[in-house]
Amino acid sequence: MKITTTSKEQYTYPKDWLRVELTKGKKIHLLKEEDLFTLTIGVGDGDKISTRELRILVRKIVEEIKKTEFTKVVLPSLATFLGYTTEKLESDYLGELIATNILLANYTFRIYKTAPKKGWRDITDVVCTETTDKLFVRGLERGAIIGAAISETRDLANTPGGDMTPQILGKAAQTILKGTKVQTTVLGKKEIEKLKMGALLGVSKGSSEDPRFIVMEYWGGKNKSEKPIVFVGKGITFDTGGLNIKPTDGILDMHLDMSGGASVIGALKAIAKLGIKRNVIGLIPSAENMVSGSSYRPGDVLTTMSGKTVDVLNTDAEGRLVLADGLTYAERYKPALVVDIATLTGAALVALGQHASAVMSKDEQIAFKLKDLGEESGDYLWPLPLWDEYLKYTKGVHGDLANIPQSNGRYGGAINGGAFLSNFSGSFPWAHIDTAPRMTSTAGDYLAKGATGEPVRLLIAIAEKYS
Ligand code: BES
Ligand code: ZN
Ligand code: ZN
Repeated sequence: MKITTTSKEQYTYPKDWLRVELTKGKKIHLLKEEDLFTLTIGVGDGDKISTRELRILVRKIVEEIKKTEFTKVVLPSLATFLGYTTEKLESDYLGELIATNILLANYTFRIYKTAPKKGWRDITDVVCTETTDKLFVRGLERGAIIGAAISETRDLANTPGGDMTPQILGKAAQTILKGTKVQTTVLGKKEIEKLKMGALLGVSKGSSEDPRFIVMEYWGGKNKSEKPIVFVGKGITFDTGGLNIKPTDGILDMHLDMSGGASVIGALKAIAKLGIKRNVIGLIPSAENMVSGSSYRPGDVLTTMSGKTVDVLNTDAEGRLVLADGLTYAERYKPALVVDIATLTGAALVALGQHASAVMSKDEQIAFKLKDLGEESGDYLWPLPLWDEYLKYTKGVHGDLANIPQSNGRYGGAINGGAFLSNFSGSFPWAHIDTAPRMTSTAGDYLAKGATGEPVRLLIAIAEKYS
């Protein structure tokens, strides 16, 4: 799909183009005048809409276009969009928002669908009319890069577990990042053993698929001595729960349990393509959490790469185990900031519903900064506390730590996950993002069923703007 601008007016386009007009109110109409079709979309009853509402409006426009036969669309001008927004938006920001959200709404996962005889009918051209603003055009170009990277993230996440093993995920990272400035290295089981990543190895024991540890390095800063930002993404390619096996309902979407990792791959792709001037590292500890005669057991004690030992009180709390080794590996970069991204707990969903991911940090200033970047990027976050009071629940029985609290394990489940991870983040500024609430799309998102591709936009914003 091409998203461009023109100085021309909408009516100058021939009849095979669909005109989109914005109006007051809530109604949506497809009007035909002489041979020309116009789709009018209500922006709401008020005079203006917020930036949040604007993102949804753009997606709604795409959804309505997809219901028609048209593949070429002329949108209103930049000035028209700006006239409806309450916030005073810069034109490059608006361009990025429009292009990104067009692509977010246009995405479908159809790798496994048989194509119709005539092929898929896709939107091929979107033109913003009466617009020459150069900054806006740059924003559109940025949005196209970001939107494409998010689609790649969603493809990775949506791919069924049988076709997305740790090995395949490692290969996919290399393929996706090929030709960019990102150097990708995939460590295999032998190297993981050498690094003494006992937690990652423990989780992977029940699977016939070996674990991988994916390392992606982007040296976009002034030089290599500039401290990088490190993203650590959970890469559980399928989470059965292990011997603490999940019930039927709980297991269904668990091929998406590597979506944190997938978001790191997509973010690095976009960061490199945008040429962001910062050193950024992506790490993905990847394993399959399976049930078999070789599975790790409840009660096993694992020795993590850090040397700290962990009682496995529940094999379904596997994400925090593999991330523990990921965080320890991150130390070697002497990072300016480490952010881990993980579909870590159902409890985060219970706490927040499906409209925000949870953010936690021992340093609440970091959590608040990320929350603000979330609002700016569209990948919304809401903070949960990680006070010292919560740390005591991470103490072990026989080992140093336990992967779930010894009692009352259901209280504050999302915080317990964050608190456990904080034991491995002592040597650098750190935040934890529990993306379980945003793992799959929900009503009102105007996104295809399945992976949302969050928080790719946020990770790009962190790389670009965090200070
Ligand atoms: N991957 C799950 C968390 C999850 C659940 C993500 C639902 C998205 C939707 C994670 O590994 C898990 O199973 N967590 C347990 C932790 C518990 C054993 C303390 C959970 O949430 O039940
Ligand atoms: Zn689990
Ligand atoms: Zn999991």
